[in-house]
Amino acid sequence: MVDEVDRYSHVVLMISKTVDELFPETIPKLGSIRGELTRITLNDGESLKSIRNYQKVMRVLIERGIPRDSLLAYVGGGTVGDLAGFVASTYKRGVDLMAVPTTLLSQVDSCMGGKNGINFSGVKNAIGTFYNPSSIIIDVDFVKNSAPDMIRDGLGEIMKYSLIGEHTVFNLLQNGTDAETLQKGDSLSRIITLCLKLKADKVSKDFRDRNGERRDLNFGHTIAHAIESSSKNTIHHGIAVATGMLVELYIGETMGVTDKSLRSSLSGMMARYSVPRIQLRSLGLDTIVSFIRNDKKSVDGKIAMRIPSDMETMVDVAIDPEVIRSHIRSYMDSNESVARSTI
Ligand SMILES: NC(=O)c1ccc[n+]([C@@H]2O[C@H](COP(=O)([O-])OP(=O)(O)OC[C@H]3O[C@@H](n4cnc5c(N)ncnc54)[C@H](O)[C@@H]3O)[C@@H](O)[C@H]2O)c1
Repeated sequence: MVDEVDRYSHVVLMISKTVDELFPETIPKLGSIRGELTRITLNDGESLKSIRNYQKVMRVLIERGIPRDSLLAYVGGGTVGDLAGFVASTYKRGVDLMAVPTTLLSQVDSCMGGKNGINFSGVKNAIGTFYNPSSIIIDVDFVKNSAPDMIRDGLGEIMKYSLIGEHTVFNLLQNGTDAETLQKGDSLSRIITLCLKLKADKVSKDFRDRNGERRDLNFGHTIAHAIESSSKNTIHHGIAVATGMLVELYIGETMGVTDKSLRSSLSGMMARYSVPRIQLRSLGLDTIVSFIRNDKKSVDGKIAMRIPSDMETMVDVAIDPEVIRSHIRSYMDSNESVARSTI
């Protein structure tokens, strides 16, 4: 990392406070770089992705007179990455960005592809840009000892890749036993690499997400974003994506476009790796549908989703939000138990 940053006269480091405390030996090396270092420590988590925090970081950069030919490097999970990417793309119309993702979810997915953003007016990623990092450094040691919840969260996105064309990852997940063995084992680096290769391939064909191959990556995300927003972001992204995929596959089955075996494979993987299913009922159908209406992918009032048809093919569907409401109600009725009390 030091070699990579040494050609810049000024380096801005945006770092997660948690990561800074957990890995105190990783960052001091930057103290020896040739250029000047500005360090910004961040309380990460979804609330970091706000316009207020964006302004705070921008103010530091402006007050310090950070020049345009600087490097902005981030070390942290997807929330730090999303804010850092947005700052890097907008400060003086763009400075170079280096990504050092530290959660499984950010290593396997969010560090690549150029999307960034902050939440606004209760809507996730309402403001953001497309802006590629000039370099990405992945060190799997960051996740080897992290909490099981973080691994399950990353597994939500990994399962997505396994269903949209990454057959080797699908087989590795089918042959695995549990999340802890996967976390400690040798296959994790391979899985991360395979998922990122698939993402790079799809992104390179459709960088701005204009209805091309990149849309495949949004599988599960329409429902997932509504779940995250309905829970006031207490439910993490990868966990929401896993349930989002279950619901979107159910919708695909109901519309007659999706093979039932996909939902059964996903259910099996979620059970094996202890990825929880979100009870949509607990979030409220009206709340979920209100967020779905706000989805960025709505066209003429209909919500566009791309769902796998089978392990090889994805299909596009455009559905009226009221029809989605009835599908979700039916999903809840057939998949979620109702708490009953006897008087
Ligand atoms: N831009 C994209 O393409 C894209 C794709 C997927 C998700 N996302 C976004 O990513 C965000 C979620 O990212 P996340 O799951 O990394 O969440 P996060 O950044 O909130 O990190 C989760 C928690 O893990 C801690 N943490 C970070 N690294 C750690 C480590 N090595 N060991 C232990 N704890 C560590 C953090 O302090 C935080 O408390 C969401 O906002 C989501 O919308 C963006």
